[in-house]
Amino acid sequence: MRIGVLTGGGDAPGLNAAIRAIVKKSEKYGYEVIGICRGWAGLLNLDTTNLKYKDIKDVIRRGGTILKTSRTNPMKLEDGIKRTCENFKKLGLDALIAIGGDDTLSVAAALSEAGLNVVGIPKTIDYDVPRTEFTIGFDTAANTSMRLIENLKDTAESHDRVFVVEIMGRHAGWIALYSGLAAGADLILIPEEPFSIKEVTEFVKKKIEREGKGPIIIVVAEGALIKDYKGPITKDATIDQFGHVHLGGIGEFLAKEISKATGAETRACAPAHAVRGGSPTVRDRFISTRLGLAAVDLVKERKYGYMVALKGTEIVNVPLSEVTRKTKTVDKKLYEEAKVFFE
Ligand code: F6P
Repeated sequence: MRIGVLTGGGDAPGLNAAIRAIVKKSEKYGYEVIGICRGWAGLLNLDTTNLKYKDIKDVIRRGGTILKTSRTNPMKLEDGIKRTCENFKKLGLDALIAIGGDDTLSVAAALSEAGLNVVGIPKTIDYDVPRTEFTIGFDTAANTSMRLIENLKDTAESHDRVFVVEIMGRHAGWIALYSGLAAGADLILIPEEPFSIKEVTEFVKKKIEREGKGPIIIVVAEGALIKDYKGPITKDATIDQFGHVHLGGIGEFLAKEISKATGAETRACAPAHAVRGGSPTVRDRFISTRLGLAAVDLVKERKYGYMVALKGTEIVNVPLSEVTRKTKTVDKKLYEEAKVFFE
């Protein structure tokens, strides 16, 4: 067997652990692994590299992806799917393991429909892929975010300031909610629960009235929505091949509004991509490894068109077609539960 493997979309800590496990298990079965570089761009341009376990056995501790990545979408290019299928054959591949989030997996699902032998592995720091309790990178990103928020808490406390921390999370506020709650934030704002500026400034005013001065820590997901505003706050007008706008700026925006309405000394910080890098946590290394091993087993069984997923402590298979239909957003109940801390 000759198996191709690629990583698409944003990089995430744990990708290298999955790639390493794929190569290890494949070698055990006597299969060859071809790394496809830069996501779907690598299949379109025949940009590949041979993967041998002896060369990559230490990558488990490294963040990012040794295969590199891109947000290339073959479905947006004329003949993109056709070219991808042709190149799959040209490379002599028997199967392809695509590691990615909803965008990458939607292409994987389309290719699977077109007849290619594809298996998916869920990856995204945003944690918004449905039907799995694990996506590569979320745990590390949430832990890194928690530590960064705590660092900001130290300085906010010393100066009695209000701090608005903007954390990645496009459609779902999982990282903001987990890290904010874990770091003891005073308010967490997520895309699933649009808010008004007045609600936030009143919250700050009341808290200051009640407790004297700051510190107040507000965590906001970059994709959070302000009521009566059209869409999220963006950095510029660029849109990628999957139709995503370039998010960023809501933290800075809110900080200005808070300062204006309350007079409180307010600062903003947006760690942005800093939470996407770094050495993966134990969980990200361990489960990513298990998913990589399971993906090769699916290939061995010729069970294509599935994504390997975590359910409880088990690795299960979910049809790719069921994964790409929905985004896994934060449950209303979960957010309501957290609200007891936002008083
Ligand atoms: O991978 C998901 C994500 O980290 C989002 O949270 C964020 O909006 C986006 O990627 C940033 O993408 P880029 O790396 O293209 O700036």
